[in-house]
Amino acid sequence: MLEINPASIIQTKRDGKENSEAQIQWMIQSFIKGEVADYQITAWLMAIYFQGMTASETLALTKAMIQSGERYDLNQISGVKIDKHSTGGVGDKVSLILAPLAAACGLKVPMMSGRGLGFTGGTLDKLECISRFNVGLTYDLLMQVLHKVGFAMIGQSENIVPADKKLYALRDVTGTVECIPLIAASILSKKVAEGSDGLVFDVKVGSGAFMKTKEKAKTLAKTLIRLGKNLEINCRALLTQMEQPLGYAVGHSLELIECIEILKNEDHSKILGTLVTSGSGDLKELTIQLTAHMLELGKISRNLKEARQLAYKKLADGSAWKKFLAMVQEQGGSTDQVLNPKTLPLTQNTCVWKAKKAGFLSQMHTEVIGKILIELGGGRKKVTDTIDYRIGFIFHKKLGSRVGQDEPLTTVFLPDAINPQILDDLESYFHSALEITPQRKTSSKLILEVI
Ligand code: URA
Repeated sequence: MLEINPASIIQTKRDGKENSEAQIQWMIQSFIKGEVADYQITAWLMAIYFQGMTASETLALTKAMIQSGERYDLNQISGVKIDKHSTGGVGDKVSLILAPLAAACGLKVPMMSGRGLGFTGGTLDKLECISRFNVGLTYDLLMQVLHKVGFAMIGQSENIVPADKKLYALRDVTGTVECIPLIAASILSKKVAEGSDGLVFDVKVGSGAFMKTKEKAKTLAKTLIRLGKNLEINCRALLTQMEQPLGYAVGHSLELIECIEILKNEDHSKILGTLVTSGSGDLKELTIQLTAHMLELGKISRNLKEARQLAYKKLADGSAWKKFLAMVQEQGGSTDQVLNPKTLPLTQNTCVWKAKKAGFLSQMHTEVIGKILIELGGGRKKVTDTIDYRIGFIFHKKLGSRVGQDEPLTTVFLPDAINPQILDDLESYFHSALEITPQRKTSSKLILEVI
């Protein structure tokens, strides 16, 4: 057929017209079979980035992505299966605490996550800091882990949503991440294929997120909810603030360690024994809130108040930590490493970046932090790059903190060798991303809206 060929499909989108369901199906299927080249898909993605997609195109793309692989049937798993998915942010490590916590509260969580995308990190990459950890479970193994532990943490594979795996890797390195229909199709395809009954979306807003304004984040949230409804999944979305890294750590091993310390209820004014600031609880608080919404959606709790109480209890009494350890064991990871987090990949080469002047930390262009992490080797610039899990930051200050001149803002975990000029340039880039002002600015709420 004349109109079913890659060039005409790309041209249609480039010219701002609608691709038909058949064209979208064909494009995705041919991409999976290797019959459409990466450069053609990239051109199409870029056209979508600029021209957007209508609601029916977005639905057709999501369905085509789901059909690119198997769809799991979780009927043999008793209980309500609820998952959460974040649209991505710098230092967003919530899933690592939330999934075991929700399971400890009685939900089943078949969590399918992604890898690093753009300037944000991915849950799968963070889990792979643990030696031998297997994110590629077969269906049978997934069932086994869900039965035994109540939750599992997996990625897309050759069998399940392979289209997202391939598209995600291309988008990551071709400037096509920040696009509402592509984000929505990527998230929903994974979540429908994994077989959850319900979903909570954490739609991030701010300088460390793909959606920089509340308005755009709201459009994304509404797109996700509409798609969820069309695909018969019960969902809700929370718009949450991402004006600074969540918690204190950014970087794969460091983020994992921060989560382990929260799961173990350790003193959260320190990470790896390094003092942070006077205990901002944003990471823990957001995790509890999102878990509570999952518990209410899954009817484990009658209302949010009860749900929050249950989540606090299961975190405080160590139940979530036990679940996490059991999941690591079942998915082949080294529990020794998790029990002794200092044995996770970490670098000894650190430096401290200090405040240039005194005042209050008022604003952060958080995307820059993610970009510096990538420059240092702690993220991917191209599909084939390997991540140095050891690289990262521990922040000593949060927005609103008072800072003295020369006071440490962040400890940077560096590669073994780094050109001093490059390091100086990165430090200047870091300072350009921060605003220190004489007056304290009030930062926005952690949860901006529930949709
Ligand atoms: N998370 C995903 O799974 N996909 C995106 O495109 C963005 C965030």
